Amino acid sequence: MKSPILLGVNIDHSATVRQARYRGQPSARGGMVEPDPVAVALEAQRSGADAITMHLREDRRHIVDSDVYRMKEFIQVPLNLEMAATEEMTKIAAEVRPATVLLVPEGRTEVTTEGGLDVVAHRARVADVIAAMKEAGIAVSLFIDAQSEQIDASAELGAQYVELHTGNFAHAWDSPELEAELNVLKEGAVRAHEAGLKVNAGHGINYTNIRRAREIPWLHEMNIGHSIISRALFTGIGAAVREMKALMNP
Ligand code: PXP
Repeated sequence: MKSPILLGVNIDHSATVRQARYRGQPSARGGMVEPDPVAVALEAQRSGADAITMHLREDRRHIVDSDVYRMKEFIQVPLNLEMAATEEMTKIAAEVRPATVLLVPEGRTEVTTEGGLDVVAHRARVADVIAAMKEAGIAVSLFIDAQSEQIDASAELGAQYVELHTGNFAHAWDSPELEAELNVLKEGAVRAHEAGLKVNAGHGINYTNIRRAREIPWLHEMNIGHSIISRALFTGIGAAVREMKALMNP
C-alpha cells in the first residue's frame, strides 16, 4: 500500500503578518505581539501537521532567530529549518538542531524562493554544509529543480532528501505546459528515488493544484505554506491543515 504523503506546514507567512506591525519588538510584550508563529505551529501540529518548516532568511524579513529557538523548544513534530548554505546559518542550525535543514538559494531582491539550488555549481559549499550537519546529527534536504544533473549531484553529495521545486508546475496551471511540467516532476521523483533519495516537494502548492501534484510518485512529504496560511484567515489554521491533508491523501 502507498504510504500517505506527509504534510510539512510552512508557517513563515504568519511571521510576515507579525512583522508588518511589530518588526523589532520583543515577542513577550504583554502578549500584544501577534500572531505568534509558534502558536500557529502548535495549532497546525494539533490538527495533523507532520512537520513544521520555517525559513530563517538572511534579512530576517519574516522569521527571526528567537522564533527558531522557541519553535524547537515547543513543537513535538520534526522541525525543518529552511536556510541558505552560509556559514552563519550552518552555525545556527548546529545550535538549534532541527530534524532537517532544507538548503535553498537566497536572493535579497526575490519576494519568495524563486528557483532551485544549483547544487552542481555550488558543490563544494553544499558539501561543507552537509558535512557540518552530519556531525550535528541533522539530515539535509536540497531544494532543487527536477533536473537529472541536480538530482545526481544531490545523491553524490550524500543528501538524504531532495525537495523538488514545484513552482513551474504551479505557474503552468491552466496552461498547455501543465502536463509537461508535471512530467518533469514525475520523472525527477523516480530518478531521485532510484538514487536512494527521499523525495519531498514544495512551492506554490494550493488547494486546487494539489489534486495533480499528488500524482508525483514516491512523495514522502510536501511543504506547503502560503495557501494554508491564506485559507486559515477564513477557516482557522486547524481546518486549513485538515483540509489540505485530506486532499493530499484522498
Ligand atoms: N519549499 C520551499 C523550499 C520554499 O522556499 C517555500 C516557500 O517559502 C515552500 C516550500 C512553500 O511554498 P508556498 O508558500 O508557496 O507553499
